Amino acid sequence: MRLDRLLCQHPQWSRRHVLTLLVQGRVRVNGAVTPDPTAEVRPFDAVTVDDQVIQAATPAHYLMLHKPVGVLSATADPVHPTVMGLLPPDLAEQLHIGGRLDRASSGLMLLTNDGQWSRRATAPERRSPKTYLVTLAHPIHPDTERVFAEGIHFPFEDVTTSPAQLERLDERHCRLTIYEGRYHQIKRMFGRFRNPVLALHREAMGTIRLDSALAPGQYRPLTPEEVASV
Ligand code: URA
Repeated sequence: MRLDRLLCQHPQWSRRHVLTLLVQGRVRVNGAVTPDPTAEVRPFDAVTVDDQVIQAATPAHYLMLHKPVGVLSATADPVHPTVMGLLPPDLAEQLHIGGRLDRASSGLMLLTNDGQWSRRATAPERRSPKTYLVTLAHPIHPDTERVFAEGIHFPFEDVTTSPAQLERLDERHCRLTIYEGRYHQIKRMFGRFRNPVLALHREAMGTIRLDSALAPGQYRPLTPEEVASV
């Protein structure tokens, strides 16, 4: 919300009064004098006028979680356990998921209460890489690298996937980097070769890598560098 609009919500001040407070340098955002009425203020910012707290900062949370196989990327489900069930309830109720994984997939999930941040982390136009370890039912077809690098057309959405990179690890295992997160994307990509995906594990999103110290089901806060990388 704009700073002037936030201040105008205060019953004590008219718009003219608010502009005067700003010009007089009496308004601080996170401790810094902010005279710009159009400055964007987020729930994570503290706003004061002189010593009066107008808005206390809501703590921002950024977590990485090692999603186990069999757990749903959802807030609540009548049948299956959910990733939110792995967190303390008072924390879980504040958070949302940045980038889902299928129930049968495992690996890195990002959770936050910062909607702008999670939108940046997952926006397809940012072409942020996501890296997966893939286990396949059959040997990887020799044309796979070429076809994935050219992009695969999904008729249902009428989109072509961004060029993806495949690194062969052995006959049935590879590391695959994709740049968007469409529904069942990797399963559908290998579906072109009639090669079922037996296991899928997300290792990284952008430059954030799943911490090898986290066992399935465990989580930790992101470091300031990891948060800033998005
Ligand atoms: N692609 C899939 O098919 N499933 C996932 O969970 C992630 C990417």
